[in-house]
Amino acid sequence: MDYLKIKGIDSLQGSIKIAGAKNASLPLIAMTILAKNKLNIENLPDVVDIKTLLKLLTNLGAQCSFEEHHVSVDTKNIHETRATYDIVKTMRASILVLGPILARFGHCEVSLPGGCAIGQRPIDLHLKALEQMGAEIDIKAGYVETKAPNGLKGCEIIFDKITVTGTANIVMAAALAKGTTTIVNAAREPEVVQLCEILNNSGVKIKGIGTSVLKIKGTNGKLVDIKDFAIIPDRIEAGTYLCAAAITNSELTITDVEPKHLDAVIRKFEEMGFSFTLTKDTITIYPANEIKPVKIITQEYPAFPTDMQAQFMALATQANGTSIIEERLFENRFMHVSELQRMGADISLNGHIATVKGKTELSGTDVMATDLRASSALVLAGLIAKGETDIHRIYHLDRGYDSLEKKLQNAGAKVQRLKE
Ligand code: EPZ
Repeated sequence: MDYLKIKGIDSLQGSIKIAGAKNASLPLIAMTILAKNKLNIENLPDVVDIKTLLKLLTNLGAQCSFEEHHVSVDTKNIHETRATYDIVKTMRASILVLGPILARFGHCEVSLPGGCAIGQRPIDLHLKALEQMGAEIDIKAGYVETKAPNGLKGCEIIFDKITVTGTANIVMAAALAKGTTTIVNAAREPEVVQLCEILNNSGVKIKGIGTSVLKIKGTNGKLVDIKDFAIIPDRIEAGTYLCAAAITNSELTITDVEPKHLDAVIRKFEEMGFSFTLTKDTITIYPANEIKPVKIITQEYPAFPTDMQAQFMALATQANGTSIIEERLFENRFMHVSELQRMGADISLNGHIATVKGKTELSGTDVMATDLRASSALVLAGLIAKGETDIHRIYHLDRGYDSLEKKLQNAGAKVQRLKE
C-alpha cells in the first residue's frame, strides 16, 4: 500500500491546473444509460471513483474506453440491471445507476450502500421519490429491488432534505418517465446543473435549472440522443489547492477553473485575510498579512460546502485566534480532528461544532487518512508541519484527487509517494 511522505516547506509558487469534477462525472457517466447513441466525454478526472463506475457500466454490458481524461461510452448493449455488492461497497455513488436503469428497463437491483466514514448516509429519499413515481421497492438480502413494469410516471416530489445524488437520480428517472416530474427542494450544486443542461440539450425539457424547483418533461420511455461534452472543473479540488496556498501563505494561480462556483469559499478566505484576482477561468490567491480566525457553517450550495470543511480546519490551525466550524450535513465528518491533534493542533469538539485555536505550530508524524477530504486536510497540515509527515491509507485520496502529489511537486512541495 502507498503512503505519502511530506516535508514542511516555506511556500508554493506558480500555477496548478484543475481537473474535471469527480462529482459531476459520476452522474454524467450514469446518465449515458439513457443514451441511444455512443458518446464521448472529455475532461474526466483520472481518479479511482471514475474507473469504478466505468467498471460497473462494463459489468452491465456497456462498452467503455477510458484514456487520458477522455471516455467513449456505448450503452446500447446493456443487458444486466443488477449493480452488485463487490462494486457498490467500494463506492456508494454507484447508486446513481438506479434511476436511469429503472427508467430504461422497468426494473433494477442495486446493492444497498452501507454507511461510510462520514455518516450513515441513507438513500431513503431516493427510494421514496421513485415510489411516488410508481416504482415498487423491496429490500431483499442487502439489495434494493425496484420495478416499474408500466414505466415511471411524472409527479410532484418534495424532498424532505436537499440531496445531491438524490436529485440527480430522480432527474435521470424523470427523463424517460411519462409526463412531467416536479422536484421541490432540489439540489442546486453545479454538478446537478450540468446534468440538467446536458439532458435539456438532448431533448428532455427541463425548467428551473439551477433553482430549487425543477420541472422535467419525460420522453415516455424513449432513449435520447446525447451530444459529446466536457466535464466542468472540480470546485473542491480547486478549493483544496487554494487552501494549500493559504496555509503556506503563498501566491498561487489555479487554472481551468470556474471561479463563480467558489463564491462562498473565496468569501471565507477573504474573511481570513487573503486576497484574489479572478479571471474567466483562473483564480490567483495572494498571501495574508495576518491569517484571521473564521466562523464556518457547512450547508448546501451555494453556501459553504461540507467538502471544504476539513481543509479549512487545517488552515484555521494557523490563524491568530479562535475559529468555529459547524458541520451541518454529515453527522461524523470530524475524523481528521484526532489526526490533526496528533500533529499538535488545538481543536475541541462539541457535537457538530469544532473550536480551533490558533496559531499552533504543527509537527510532522504518522497520520491516518479516513476519507477523501479528511486526507487532503492532512496533506495541507503536512505542508507546514515541522519535520516529516507520513500519511497512510492514501487510497482515500486517489479516489478523488487527480495526480495530487505531482501537481504539488510542480508548485514546489516536497511530497513523495512511497510503498509501506
Ligand atoms: C454528494 O453526496 C457528494 N458526493 C458528497 O461529496 C458531498 O459531500 C455531498 O453531496 C454534499 O454536498 C457525490 O456527489 C458523489 P447528499 P450525496 O445526498 O449526494 C442525507 C466528496 O467528498 N440524506 O446531498 O450522497 C445525508 O445523509 C463526497 O466528494 C438522507 O438522509 O449527499 C446527508 O446528511 C463526500 N437521505 C444529507 O442528506 C437520502 O436519501 C446530504 O446528503 C439522501 C441523503
